[in-house]
Amino acid sequence: MKIAVTGTGYVGLVTAVCLAKIGHKVTCIDIDDEKIETLKELKCPIYEEGLQELMQEHQNDIIYTTDYKKSYKENDVIFVCVGTPEREDGTANLNYIYKVCDEIKEYSKSDKVIVIKSTVPIGTNKEIQKYMNKDSDTTFNIVSNPEFLSQGTAVKDTLNASRIVVGTNDKNSKKIMEELYKPLTKPPYNVPYLSMSRESAEMVKYASNNFLALKISYINEIANICEKTGANIDDVALSMGYDQRIGKQFLKAGIGYGGSCFPKDTKALYHFCKDLGYKLQTIEAAIDINILQRQKLIEQAKKDFESLENKKVAILGLTFKPGTDDLRESPAFDNVDILLDYNAIVNVYDPVAIDKFKAIYKNKVNYYHDIDNTIKDCDFVFIMTEWQEIVGYDLNKYKELMKTPIIYDGRNCYDLEKIKEAGIKYYSIGR
Ligand code: UGA
Repeated sequence: MKIAVTGTGYVGLVTAVCLAKIGHKVTCIDIDDEKIETLKELKCPIYEEGLQELMQEHQNDIIYTTDYKKSYKENDVIFVCVGTPEREDGTANLNYIYKVCDEIKEYSKSDKVIVIKSTVPIGTNKEIQKYMNKDSDTTFNIVSNPEFLSQGTAVKDTLNASRIVVGTNDKNSKKIMEELYKPLTKPPYNVPYLSMSRESAEMVKYASNNFLALKISYINEIANICEKTGANIDDVALSMGYDQRIGKQFLKAGIGYGGSCFPKDTKALYHFCKDLGYKLQTIEAAIDINILQRQKLIEQAKKDFESLENKKVAILGLTFKPGTDDLRESPAFDNVDILLDYNAIVNVYDPVAIDKFKAIYKNKVNYYHDIDNTIKDCDFVFIMTEWQEIVGYDLNKYKELMKTPIIYDGRNCYDLEKIKEAGIKYYSIGR
C-alpha cells in the first residue's frame, strides 16, 4: 500500500518506519528542511532504540520529503501525526492538524483515507471530516487510529503493540485499515485489532493515558503516607502488583510523571470535560498531586540545610524518563529553576540530553558528561532520571568525591542497605 505520513516526531517517524517494516511504501513528510535532510542521510534525529537500524534496513521503502503537495496527491492513505500541544488554558491546540488538513484538501485530487494518529479531543475526527468535505469534489474519510507507543521503547511498542485501535464509520476505510495492519495482526506479532466508532477510539487514548497518570499519582500519594508511617513503598507496590486486577506496572513512586503526553493529556481531558459541564475530579486530583510531587526533593533539602544559597548541587538525569533524549515536562526543569532561585550552584549530567538542556539553560548551570565530575565537591545530589549509568554507579564514589555525601533520589534508584553500608545520607520517595 502507498502511504504518506505527515509529521516526523516520535509518533510519525516510528509509525512510518514500522509501516515500511511490515511491507508498505511510505512517504515521510515534514515542513522542517533540516530534519528532512538529516533523515535523507539516514540519520535518526531522535534518540530511540532500534529506529536508526530500521531506517537503514528499509531505506528503499521510505521517501523523506518536504514536498507535501506531490505526496498528498500521490498517496491514497495519509497518516496525520503532527503535534497537538497544550494551549495556555490547558486545552489541546489543533492548529497544526487543521493546517495539514487544509493542505491535503487543496492538493489531493482523488478520494482519500485520512488517518489521525495525533491525540485529539473526543469528536474532533467527526469535525475534521465535516470540515474537509465541505465544498470539496473529493471525498475524505477520517479514521481515528490512536497511538500507544512509549518513548524509549517506541519501535517495540509499535510492532508488538498491546492493541491496534481503529475508529471509523465508513465501510471502505474499515477494509483499507484492516488490510494495512494485517501483517501486524498475524504471527509473529499477533497484535489484537479493535474496530469501533471514532468517538470511542478518541476516548480510548485519553482514558488510557489519564488512567496511567492517575495510577502514578495514586502510588505517589501512598508513598507519601509510607514516609509518614514508616512503611516502605517498594514492599507495598510490589505486593499490590501481585493482584492481577491491579497489575505490577506503573506503580513506581517518584518525583512525578513528565513527558509530552501525561501532563498534556490529563489537562486536555480535564478541560474538555469542564466544557461539557462535567468536573473530572479524579484527574484534577492527579494533576495537583503531580505538581506537589515535583517539590519533594526541594522540601527535604530545605529541611536539611539552613540555606541553599551557594550550595553546590549535582543534578543526575535531565530527561523525563530514561531511554529518550526528550526533556518535555521533565521534573528536572522545576527542580533546577527552584535551586537557581535559591542561588545554589547547579551542575548537571545526563547521558544523552546535555546539549538539548544547554540550549535552554545556557550559562546558568554547569554541564558535565560524566558523573564523577558532576558530583565532585558537591554538597548534595538530586536524582531526576533512573538512567542505568546512575543506577549502576559505584556508591563509594559519592563519599569519595562529594563534599558531603547526601543524595535526594527522586527515582528510588538505590538499595537502602547498600546506601547505608556506603555511609551516604539518603532521602528517597516513600521508603
Ligand atoms: C505514555 C504512555 O505510557 C504511552 O502508552 C502513550 O502512547 C504515550 O504516553 C503517548 O501518549 O504518546 P511516555 O510519555 O513515552 O508514554 O512515557 P511513560 O513510560 O508512560 O512515562 C511517563 C512518565 O511517567 C515518566 O516521567 C515516568 O518516569 C513516569 N512514571 C511512569 C512514573 O513516575 N512511575 C511509573 O510507574 C511509570
